[in-house]
Amino acid sequence: MKGVILAGGLGTRLQPMTRVTNKHLLPVYDRPMIYYPLQQLVHAGVRDVLVVTGGDSAGDFLKLLRNGGDFGLQHLRYAYQEGEGGIAEALGLAEFFAAGEPIVVILGDNIFQQPLRPAIDAFRRDPSGAMILLKEVDDPERFGVARVDGARVVEIIEKPTTPPSRLAVTGCYLYDARVFDIIKTLSPSRRGELEITDVNNRYIEWGAIRHHRVEGWWTDAGTIPSLHRASKLVADDRGNPVLTEMTPA
Ligand code: G1P
Repeated sequence: MKGVILAGGLGTRLQPMTRVTNKHLLPVYDRPMIYYPLQQLVHAGVRDVLVVTGGDSAGDFLKLLRNGGDFGLQHLRYAYQEGEGGIAEALGLAEFFAAGEPIVVILGDNIFQQPLRPAIDAFRRDPSGAMILLKEVDDPERFGVARVDGARVVEIIEKPTTPPSRLAVTGCYLYDARVFDIIKTLSPSRRGELEITDVNNRYIEWGAIRHHRVEGWWTDAGTIPSLHRASKLVADDRGNPVLTEMTPA
């Protein structure tokens, strides 16, 4: 399984900090935001990782992460997203990297308290279709939200004004190689981006999506309140290996 971290975007919700740097380089408690998704991948045994970024600070990722040696990796790969075409467009840049293999994708501003390994291992055992990770939240209107029928996810609605459930679709996704064919057929949403929610809805139409419930807390860190909350959650959970260890045994 290969891993992709999406770390582009303008970070407009974190201005003025993001006028001078990329959102994913900002600190969450004691380390840059992007460390958390990278630590998750390494903890799950993913050794081949691509970081997709963009904008004026792209070079700073190379300065910070270098070849991934601090994380026990032998190399890291990088891709550059021109413009602000959205999460699905950024993921499209990973097609050559994936080279037909299944991938785990994490948004660079998503922090999970518990290891993602159980979900990643489940997809390793059956790497077909897609898998999404759901978490019950109090503010679902900020996220992609799952409409469910019994145990089945029947639709995902991006930032609904009237959420059909409290189940947010978190920013960790597992896909087979068909994801790249789907991305090529997408058109931009109202916010002018190729949406990851449209990718997931296509897998739902095909009856090819599974989901996992996230244990422990989950947060994004892309707004001032959520960035603050993320730092606090991490600070209050010292000693949690997946939040602290860069190179697990
Ligand atoms: C993105 C996705 C959304 C998902 C969220 C998770 O939103 O579009 O479906 O729930 O990440 O963090 P964005 O942060 O781009 O608004």
